[in-house]
Amino acid sequence: MSYKTATKLAQIGNRSDKQTGAVAAPIYLSTTYSHPELGESTGYDYTRTKNPTRDILEQALAELESGSRGIVTSSGMSAIQLVFSSFPSGSEFLVSRDLYGGSYRYFEELQKLAIATFHYFDDFESLAAQLTPEITAVFLETPTNPLMQEVSIKKVAQLTQAQETLLIVDNTFSTPLRQQPLILGADIVVHSGTKFLTGHNDILAGVVVAKDPEIGERLAWLANTTGPTLGSLDCWLFIRSLKTFKLRFEQQERNAQRIAEILNDQPQLKKVLYPGIGGMISFYVKDAAKIKAFLAELKLITFAESLGGVESLITYPTTQTHADIPQELRESYGLTPELLRLSVGIEDSEDLANDLIRALRVFD
Ligand SMILES: Cc1ncc(COP(=O)(O)O)c(C=O)c1O
Repeated sequence: MSYKTATKLAQIGNRSDKQTGAVAAPIYLSTTYSHPELGESTGYDYTRTKNPTRDILEQALAELESGSRGIVTSSGMSAIQLVFSSFPSGSEFLVSRDLYGGSYRYFEELQKLAIATFHYFDDFESLAAQLTPEITAVFLETPTNPLMQEVSIKKVAQLTQAQETLLIVDNTFSTPLRQQPLILGADIVVHSGTKFLTGHNDILAGVVVAKDPEIGERLAWLANTTGPTLGSLDCWLFIRSLKTFKLRFEQQERNAQRIAEILNDQPQLKKVLYPGIGGMISFYVKDAAKIKAFLAELKLITFAESLGGVESLITYPTTQTHADIPQELRESYGLTPELLRLSVGIEDSEDLANDLIRALRVFD
């Protein structure tokens, strides 16, 4: 029987424990497993390699992203690091110009250590122009963090498949509910599981899903070898969070659509960036000098760096998430000091809008 996404999410882990019939899957804390006898295994030997609670989560995530193999890690960055550690040194990569500042910091470090070379693209045309056969993989965010730039995964995949370059998509912003990169032609999906997937601002996690079983096996082998494994308590919390993922995300998206509309009418703003889906909105204010006062005026929305949780957060990319991108560079492509990024939660949209409208008066 093939069930719809909401059904599959609500049912994760149910019927997995045949012995007791536990509806909420148990947390297996044991790091090691006894062997029935020499040369035999229950299927579980050591938790870095395989853990029953993590298995349930990894299978659910692989299915959610329509891939063959899911791997959960200790953070989004360790998921990205796991994927990039699977390529030979000296590889060349083509990656989104606008992207999470931590990914940029990691790519620049690999380049500084002469482990890999990174080229950056601004749009589909500049990607197509730079996609030479020397490129081992393309890594992209769509929409990007924080400028919400979009690129067609399908069009990029047509190019990468034509020359056997791998396509890796960071699907943190859209989530598999709005975009399924592996169906559109990508090879690997990564997530900061810290964001919408877990959604409560209380779990740090990362996700890798591979389309091809061989790539999945290789990444799982590497994860066992290097150990970026997510602990079983966090796996269990992740499973519990996924059960309400669709409900949360849809409410966040409805709120964001309403708030984007309202923000578009506010005279204190220069421009609102909202791709029409998801819970993330960025906007430019007219006067960066008053941002400090604006943030102090917000009483409901919290000034903090992260996104995707039930509590609405506002972030100042210039000094927070994207501070590691050199100032001149980030300003050259639009990440200027007037930009703020809003992660819309599940609160009442009227309360959120009122908080923003009141605080925006500091710019009058
Ligand atoms: C798009 C994106 N990818 C990856 C990451 C890194 O994830 P984590 O903070 O879980 O390591 C982030 C973090 O903000 C992000 O926004």
